[in-house]
Amino acid sequence: MVRLDQPLDEGDLDPDPIRQWRRWFDEATAAGQPEPEAMALATATRAGEPSVRFVLLRGADERGFVFYTNGHSRKGRDLAANPTAALAFRWWTVERQVRVSGPVSPVESNESDAYFKTRPRGAQLGAWASAQSEQIPSRATLDQQLQSVTARFAGRDVPRPPWWGGFRVRPIEMEFWQGRQDRLHDRLRYRLDVGHWRIQRLNP
Ligand SMILES: Cc1cc2nc3c(=O)[nH]c(=O)nc-3n(C[C@H](O)[C@H](O)[C@H](O)COP(=O)(O)O)c2cc1C
Repeated sequence: MVRLDQPLDEGDLDPDPIRQWRRWFDEATAAGQPEPEAMALATATRAGEPSVRFVLLRGADERGFVFYTNGHSRKGRDLAANPTAALAFRWWTVERQVRVSGPVSPVESNESDAYFKTRPRGAQLGAWASAQSEQIPSRATLDQQLQSVTARFAGRDVPRPPWWGGFRVRPIEMEFWQGRQDRLHDRLRYRLDVGHWRIQRLNP
């Protein structure tokens, strides 16, 4: 059961923020948090114009946080021009938020291939049918595009579109936020400082 006004103390934290993230992710999942892998992903153009949207986390390890998308999408174009991003997880069942930021790089193509193979066929065809983020005249156009790729790949495996794949956010900063009473929340931030994670407490 989730306790209200649960404190977050420096001594509770794992020295490694990704291991700490995993612990909180597992606790949110155990608390019944719907879609705990949903995360807001903020990117910006080279000129600094920001945009944000949700994506699903598809891998997390010591290298960072991975999501998959269309590289020609708005976020994909942002990341090509300005390869840095910020993520935010919101797990309301446990009154927690985690923020992540750092440089972004494409995942290896064999890793994207392997993940694409696990996708349902409908989603694989959808990746070919949708020029994500481009204007489209009508829903009917999308349906026609889907019919056309369905015919094209009939009777064979759907390959990964060359423009579709994973991106990995390598954290250089992560913040763990625990909701507390009277808005006096606990905030502990990790920052990478010449190869070492330093932890600081922030005002709520
Ligand atoms: C919960 C949730 C999860 C989503 N997951 C993904 C995802 O993993 N990859 C993706 O490309 N879009 C995902 N989307 C759609 C994106 O939010 C967004 O509409 C799309 O990627 C186009 O964004 P862009 O035009 O800013 O590039 C998701 C949307 C929601 C609400």
